Amino acid sequence: MSKATATKRHAELAAEIRAHDHAYYVLDNPTIADAAYDKLMKELIALEAEHPELRTSDSPTQRVGGGLREGFKKIKHVKPLLSLDSLMQQSEVEEFDERVRKGLGLDEGLFAAAVAYMAEPKFDGLSIELVYEDGVFVRGSTRGDGEVGEDVTDNLRTVRAIPLRFNDGPPAKGVVAIRGEVLIPLSAFDELNKRLLEAGSEPFANARNAAAGTVRQLDTSITASRRLDFFAYDIMHFEAPAKGKTPFPTQQSMLDALRAWGFHVESGVKRCEGLAEAITFHADLMARRDELPYEIDGVVIKVDDRAAQTRLGMRSRSPRWAVAFKFPPREEITLVQDIVVQVGRTGKLTPVAQLKPVDVSGVTVSRATLHNQDELDRKDVRIGDTVRVRRAGDVIPEVVEVLLDKRPSGTKRFELPMKCPVCGSEVIREGAAHLCTNGL
Ligand code: IVH
Repeated sequence: MSKATATKRHAELAAEIRAHDHAYYVLDNPTIADAAYDKLMKELIALEAEHPELRTSDSPTQRVGGGLREGFKKIKHVKPLLSLDSLMQQSEVEEFDERVRKGLGLDEGLFAAAVAYMAEPKFDGLSIELVYEDGVFVRGSTRGDGEVGEDVTDNLRTVRAIPLRFNDGPPAKGVVAIRGEVLIPLSAFDELNKRLLEAGSEPFANARNAAAGTVRQLDTSITASRRLDFFAYDIMHFEAPAKGKTPFPTQQSMLDALRAWGFHVESGVKRCEGLAEAITFHADLMARRDELPYEIDGVVIKVDDRAAQTRLGMRSRSPRWAVAFKFPPREEITLVQDIVVQVGRTGKLTPVAQLKPVDVSGVTVSRATLHNQDELDRKDVRIGDTVRVRRAGDVIPEVVEVLLDKRPSGTKRFELPMKCPVCGSEVIREGAAHLCTNGL
């Protein structure tokens, strides 16, 4: 194949694969069968083997990973990645609104005006900066201390929801810096933990740790094998065409630009006329929290007007124009007062931790399942231990881990009995299960 024909075919294939990736990973609307997709990818790989100069960093072939690294370089961010003030109480959020209105001169007596806010889910993942040059992805880094993060470019390239080059959308000449969150959908998280357990490895305590651990993998093929997702929520730097003119006057217009460039942008955001609507949004979202495909831990409330954001400015590490209105945490610390053994209808013995009652996101938790002897051995939960417990939706509360530095002296490992605590019959072990022989 001539050089010119190869170049043309390469561009066609790359564009086609990019469009299918976008449809599948961002729009959640597949446009091709797996086998046909694999065929396109194979052709592209073969073409690049023959013409290595066509293998550019934004080629779809670069998403498969495979490189092994010793560690991560440090990268200075284009713009500092600020953090947000975390608020738990509605009264604190009301005080934020008052400060904003005062700052914008909207609190004048009778004519006090409402501020328009954008309310967005607060993703419980890992904050990332992505840098594009002339619309091509060039590097990405973790938040680090906000100024300097770790260079995880190769790993991020394997995340299909991160465009390696911009789609349509506003012209993006020069440097564009984007901020968003890498996360792992809960279904992928469960699947990953199952695989890790089967392989005898330590599972991740929660989806956030799984996402963070996966982004910081030294072997990029491992990152590629896990289903990471990325949601974009901020354009931190954009070389605007005309000086002094904000290209994105509102949060909404900014999210629209991100979406047009090909990013995954949360559609369940709400522009609110005044704080009351944002507070309602927070309550509604909290009620639906367990139905979402990924973990969120609150709502971010941002002044919608970007010029007003600039006028409000920032404190040392956080903006004055946005806050995180958190949900109650899903995890709490408490004490294991006892471990009891339950016998189910099928004769299966289940160890259950009796806990000092603790409020976990609005529900009193006094028991947590320890599943079976393997889980007990792995977590080594003992009577007298201080533990981190977790409650997610309707799922039975779980002991996440033991705080070993709080373990009192003289504790013993817990073993399930080999005589049934209910009927005294012999207990046998079948795989991970302990079974009472009475009724087998
Ligand atoms: S905006 C200057 N929007 O929450 C404002 N942050 O505690 C920048 N986060 O480290 C942040 N979802 O990683 C923003 N929709 C969202 C977010 C979000 C999650 C994270 C972000 C930040 C942390 C702040």
